[in-house]
Amino acid sequence: MDLAIMGYGVVGSGVARLLEKNYDRIVANSTQPSLRLRYILDLRTFPGDPNEALVTKDFRRIAEDPEVGIVVETMGGLHPAYEFVLQCLEAGKSVVSSNKELVAEKGCDLLRAAEKHNVNFLFEASVGGGIPIIRPMSQCLAANEITEVAGILNGTTNFILTKMIGDGMRFADALRLAQENGYAEKDPTADIEGHDACRKICILAALAFGRHVYPAQVRTEGITRLTPEDAAYADTAGYAIKLLGRAARLPDGRISARVAPGLVPKGSMLAGVNDVFNAILVRGDATGDVMFYGRGAGQWPTASAVVADVIDCAKHMEKKKLLGWEPGDERYVAPPEEDPARYYVRFAGVTQAHRLALLQAFPGAETLRREGAGPDELALLLRTETEDEVRRRIAETGAGLEALIGVYQA
Ligand code: HSE
Repeated sequence: MDLAIMGYGVVGSGVARLLEKNYDRIVANSTQPSLRLRYILDLRTFPGDPNEALVTKDFRRIAEDPEVGIVVETMGGLHPAYEFVLQCLEAGKSVVSSNKELVAEKGCDLLRAAEKHNVNFLFEASVGGGIPIIRPMSQCLAANEITEVAGILNGTTNFILTKMIGDGMRFADALRLAQENGYAEKDPTADIEGHDACRKICILAALAFGRHVYPAQVRTEGITRLTPEDAAYADTAGYAIKLLGRAARLPDGRISARVAPGLVPKGSMLAGVNDVFNAILVRGDATGDVMFYGRGAGQWPTASAVVADVIDCAKHMEKKKLLGWEPGDERYVAPPEEDPARYYVRFAGVTQAHRLALLQAFPGAETLRREGAGPDELALLLRTETEDEVRRRIAETGAGLEALIGVYQA
């Protein structure tokens, strides 16, 4: 069986290295007589690389070679990855992808194309790096009604938050380190603005609830507006701040989905998830809570998930693995502002009148303290309300809202 890799960056080159390193074990598990890397598609050249001779810029060589049975897509981005993957499926090749954007935007179409052409489209590496999550959700938890899936889905931002809050490192230095370690996306804006986590929660929601959720339907906020003040207030109140993705089924059949920083109680499992690690909680009606934990980014962990899919494709060349969900619907995702939660709110430029009005507007709110707080600063932990209601009452007081962060209650 011949293979091709499209995209020879951190993940693609990791796949080639892992194939070489554990070749005998991988081939034995694949039940194929051999797995030969035949082509690497990339616009760049790689002088001195052991696979230099396999590099081509011509996609047609892969699509038109009948010996290539499995294509690995590790290019990232939507175009031309979508067109290339679709053409490979149409040409009767199974495809393995690590591309979150591709699966989150086009997963439903590509799974249908795979079914139509009797091949596999697998994407274990698209969520959680080396953590097994797609296969467990679609197979091991298949008997459950899933009510919620949530967690820390981006290694880069978790690494940055750990370094900034734990070690006092500057944001730019922590980001640079994440890039040097091969965790960050090509354009790290996708990490720090939450888009990467958004794509992953879309994929998890589609698997959990059986219908496609588009990234544009999910309200997404990254970590760029977090301040050391918020981290300090959260810390003194017994919480850690994490970038969380969450999708939950509502009683009316819609789902609520969101990516945003959240306060997690220090004693909870999520609070202890640091550095590049991810953790994903899946709540099933039969299993209760199941937590998946491991390295969410990086060359070897992600290559591990890709190569496992290659093995699975190789083992299922005749009998296909059917995976799929229904197309999306614009009314399917409810606005998160309607979700009740406890909120942490911080204000600047607070006068005595603001302070009184806020405490009247939010009876039972806990006033938080931090060392070095200015006299015109106020941070509160509110009782459970919807975000709409919290914002409405704050607007009536005229106080300057600087931060609003939900408390995650698992
Ligand atoms: N940039 C992603 C992350 C890579 O940091 O989690 C893995 O999807």
